[in-house]
Amino acid sequence: MRQYPRIIKTLRHRYETVTQLKSRVSSNINYLLSGEPKKKQQYPLIKKILRNRFKIIQLLARGGSGDTYLAVDLDLPGQPYCVVKHFYPKHPHPAVIPIAKNLFEREAESLYQLGKNHNQIPTLFAHFHEDGDFYLVQEFVDGYDLTQEIVPGKPLSEEAVIHLLKDILEVLDFVHQHKIIHRDIKPHNIMRRHSDQKIVLIDFGSIKKLGIQGATLTIAVGTPGYMPTEQAKGKPKLSSDIYAVGMIGIQALTGLKPEELQEDADTGEIIWRDKAQVSDRLADVLDTMVHERHSQRYQSAAEALQALIPEFRLSQYAEFSAQSENAEDNSLQLYKKFILLLGMGLGIITSVIILGLIYIFLRTSVSPPKQPTPRHSWRENFVAHLSTNVDNPVAQKWLNKN
Ligand SMILES: Nc1ncnc2c1ncn2[C@@H]1O[C@H](COP(=O)(O)OP(=O)(O)OP(=O)(O)O)[C@@H](O)[C@H]1O
Ligand SMILES: [Mg+2]
Repeated sequence: MRQYPRIIKTLRHRYETVTQLKSRVSSNINYLLSGEPKKKQQYPLIKKILRNRFKIIQLLARGGSGDTYLAVDLDLPGQPYCVVKHFYPKHPHPAVIPIAKNLFEREAESLYQLGKNHNQIPTLFAHFHEDGDFYLVQEFVDGYDLTQEIVPGKPLSEEAVIHLLKDILEVLDFVHQHKIIHRDIKPHNIMRRHSDQKIVLIDFGSIKKLGIQGATLTIAVGTPGYMPTEQAKGKPKLSSDIYAVGMIGIQALTGLKPEELQEDADTGEIIWRDKAQVSDRLADVLDTMVHERHSQRYQSAAEALQALIPEFRLSQYAEFSAQSENAEDNSLQLYKKFILLLGMGLGIITSVIILGLIYIFLRTSVSPPKQPTPRHSWRENFVAHLSTNVDNPVAQKWLNKN
């Protein structure tokens, strides 16, 4: 096969096979979206303004499925930087286009869901089609990728490696909680942000959501060296990401690239302990992470994190529980105080009303009933009496006299 050397070279950067396509379509499609770009222009997008808004400044990288550019957002105050990923099928085979579109849509969707809820995953700003190509605009991470920290020939200390693994696993835990397999964890796809020195996970172009089958195709996506066998067979698990993180750990401890490490011919396990200064405990954790059989690995980032730093996880949990218990206590106290005050307030109001009623009642019962205006003297009474009996002779006599 004349293309063989080129295919091998391509696979070093990114390995993507479409097994069903391979059997059904022609033999030259055992790689996808990779190789030489279809357009011969160098950087066709430089200075271009997309959607009247994103102005391309410079190329950041040429990847498996497209190019990544630094751009500015003309619509926002200060025109901040953003990153534009330009996807285009480099081999415009009709069968490849829908798959490329599918990968693009998945990256956009996952980045949108994850990025808006975690500050160590870039936020998605926009995604759109233009002239048959796909674009994805995301938050710019001002930092550098981990290839600058994990340098061949310069092993890191055990402490530094534990810190690094913890940082990666914490972000990955968030991804795994969303039932998403990243599938391309490697130093190139992990950045360290300048502002807070935190790591940021990028490149969600290979993700797979658990439980969603990719049409009729079985696609193996990933990078050799960081990709376990089940993933290469197109059956990735969450623990496939754990394998990749374990490989990063081994790479950092040994100062060797994954392809420089040997495997046990019988078991397929990686031989590396004698090439690093490492405690048995950490070495055991890493061996479990990169176990050849996925069922023998930690099944998620949370599990790996707990094995790596049990006391951290526990103390964090304890702190969290204490915090939430405190929060519960505080709200209970507040509630109790509220009820007490409410009770007191109601008591006072009721007492005032009752006292008022008693006062009114007493006043009305003590004061004499309304009497007709009293006669001023017995004489007036008598005259009044006589007036009503004018027929009486005694009365007539008396009245005449007076
Ligand atoms: N949000 C970002 N902020 C800053 N730089 C970024 C960002 N996203 C990507 N980059 C830079 O661009 C490079 C390539 O990006 P990315 O890893 O997403 O794509 P890729 O690997 O080229 O493509 P593929 O999806 O085919 O793997 C990264 O290694 C990084 O240096
Ligand atoms: Mg990448």
